[in-house]
Amino acid sequence: MKTNELQEMIMQAKKERDVCILAHAYQSEDIWEVADYIGDSYGLAVQAAKAPQKTVLMCGVRFMAETMKTLCPEKRVLLANPLATCPMAMQMTRNMVEKLREEHPDCAVVAYINTTADLKCAVDVVVTSSSAVKIVKALPAKKILFIPDCNLGRWVEKQCPDKEFIFYKGGCPTHLKNTREDVEYAKSLHPDAKLLVHPECREEVTALADYAGSTTGILKYAKESPDREFIIGTENSIVQHLQFACPDKKFYPLSVETVCPNMRATTLADVYNAVTGAGGEEIELPAEVMEHSVLPIRKMIALGG
Ligand code: 13P
Ligand code: SF4
Repeated sequence: MKTNELQEMIMQAKKERDVCILAHAYQSEDIWEVADYIGDSYGLAVQAAKAPQKTVLMCGVRFMAETMKTLCPEKRVLLANPLATCPMAMQMTRNMVEKLREEHPDCAVVAYINTTADLKCAVDVVVTSSSAVKIVKALPAKKILFIPDCNLGRWVEKQCPDKEFIFYKGGCPTHLKNTREDVEYAKSLHPDAKLLVHPECREEVTALADYAGSTTGILKYAKESPDREFIIGTENSIVQHLQFACPDKKFYPLSVETVCPNMRATTLADVYNAVTGAGGEEIELPAEVMEHSVLPIRKMIALGG
């Protein structure tokens, strides 16, 4: 079977079964083409609640599907590939956060969205890379306990000089592979290229970037920029998407190592199986977890705009 034939079957099945397909920006081009909405973590969270369909299918990783279920408890939420999880989301548990809270009672606890629904029950507000600075600035607390990604946290800290930060030593194993040496080497090969990175990268990388932002932010920046060449410091799917979108520009990966196996796990066949009821996983969360985790997520949407 050809890719476009499978895509046509997915389009037909999602119409018949009233399924909305949401795809994170790191999904492959063939999945983008069958999706109703493509976005970064923030956009996906907001979009899930707006979808008129009774079922939403998440092509991304588990915490994204959990966030959708929390925001739309009345909908069936499916994760296209049950193995797709975010290693960063597994670095901290709710118990660990509760202990940290006791040690730092004067801090507002700010959690990156790349965390479990269970952990979110113990935090004050959730943030994404595209909303973190705005949300932290809007918090009345002066002291911020930022979990789990200390690289994203330090990037936010630089833009919120009025706040005091405490970090946990978490981070994204994929983005951590990018180093200052990678930047120096890529720039030596492409001296005219602008460097665009995700703030999950190490501080030494983000400090050298022309732009740092969410996946959607990087896509937008590159498309709108008058520059012609770009080194991309995030999951390498973004390099391919940009090359499709802007054939007259050139895009280079900062490192060939920047590949997230979990984001790459979902295939077009998984999407077909999930839409037709032959695969995927329906996300179910305990009522207590939904009741408590929705509060910091709703706060994120209220403060993030
Ligand atoms: P975005 O919010 O930028 O989509 O990031 C999600 C993610 O997992 C990046 O690694
Ligand atoms: Fe998690 Fe990093 Fe993969 Fe994003 S790229 S899903 S943060 S492991």
